[in-house]
Amino acid sequence: MAKRIQFSSHGGPEVLEYRDYQPAAPGAHEVRVQNQAIGLNFIDTYFRSGLYPPPALPSGLGTEGAGIVEAVGAAVSQFQVGDRVAYATGPLGAYSELHVLPASKLVKLPQAISFEQAAAVMLKGLTVQYLLRQVYALQGGETILFHAAAGGVGSFACQWAKALGVKLIGTVSSAEKAAHATQQGAWATIDYSHEDVVQRVLQLTDGNKCPVVYDGVGKDTWDTSLDCVAPRGLLVSFGNASGAVTGVNLGILAQKGSLFVTRPTLAGYADTPARLQSMADELFAMLASGQLNVDIGNRYALKDAAAAQTALSARQTTGSTILLP
Ligand SMILES: NC(=O)c1ccc[n+]([C@@H]2O[C@H](COP(=O)([O-])OP(=O)(O)OC[C@H]3O[C@@H](n4cnc5c(N)ncnc54)[C@H](OP(=O)(O)O)[C@@H]3O)[C@@H](O)[C@H]2O)c1
Repeated sequence: MAKRIQFSSHGGPEVLEYRDYQPAAPGAHEVRVQNQAIGLNFIDTYFRSGLYPPPALPSGLGTEGAGIVEAVGAAVSQFQVGDRVAYATGPLGAYSELHVLPASKLVKLPQAISFEQAAAVMLKGLTVQYLLRQVYALQGGETILFHAAAGGVGSFACQWAKALGVKLIGTVSSAEKAAHATQQGAWATIDYSHEDVVQRVLQLTDGNKCPVVYDGVGKDTWDTSLDCVAPRGLLVSFGNASGAVTGVNLGILAQKGSLFVTRPTLAGYADTPARLQSMADELFAMLASGQLNVDIGNRYALKDAAAAQTALSARQTTGSTILLP
């Protein structure tokens, strides 16, 4: 028997239950990981609320963790019992002591990276890798807008952008978060609790706006984001922290300057073991060189996952949050 967080109906954090369960034996191509640390991500709240439907109920939760391989399937040759590993996508169930997932979703963890650091950086760091290096391949010298710059993904985006020589303008909701984003490497911050985002972006870019805007907030910021993209620029809508963007009239892209828009996912970019490994290699190299540092802003016991999600949804967290089994 092991412990995990599960939910049997959709709702707020109160539907999360800390329960005994019997972990399955790994299938032929699967690995069972004894989690040492687990990442908390906004996507977990979407599965809990039902915005993203899980395959079945009751369901486990969470897609990010780091730990030790505890059992391997008969056809798995690339991992052995005792290997240190980390993962960021895959079947729900990372909020657990033992998690079974396809070997294709795992990468080996370099010794220099602790389990806690890995759980804090895998999903968010790989996301920043594909957002800044693939969705729009930043060259250095650009001025970009990134919403929720003091959050989990945002904190890594500030650091990575600075390392690339990119001026990141980050939106935040408080002076404390502005200080955090600046300390992480943001070139400028906009506190939307009392500043007009579009006017500030126009000032900061000498009226040119941004060639790319990264928006993980969604519904509340969609219109603002469109107004901050330069003609023929790209809006990357990659999340729904305030709710999903729906009912878009494509004509708005014409009106705002022949804009492009994309709605990418990490799973869509790390969709083969080779692509996952190459993205992880770049992330680990950024960590090894000291250009990227892992900021664990918040730690919770696994059993307190509901409290952790409440804090995340209430905008009370900065940086990454991890759960400890
Ligand atoms: N597509 C992908 O591949 C992918 C991968 C990872 C994450 N994401 C998305 O990226 C976003 C950030 O994820 P994260 O886990 O790092 O979370 P996070 O940024 O640590 O937390 C979300 C932040 O969004 C801001 N926010 C603005 N309006 C909000 C609202 N109505 N409710 C809650 N928060 C609001 C808050 O920052 P302020 O207080 O400063 O406004 C809050 O701290 C999420 O939308 C997530 O789904 C997408």
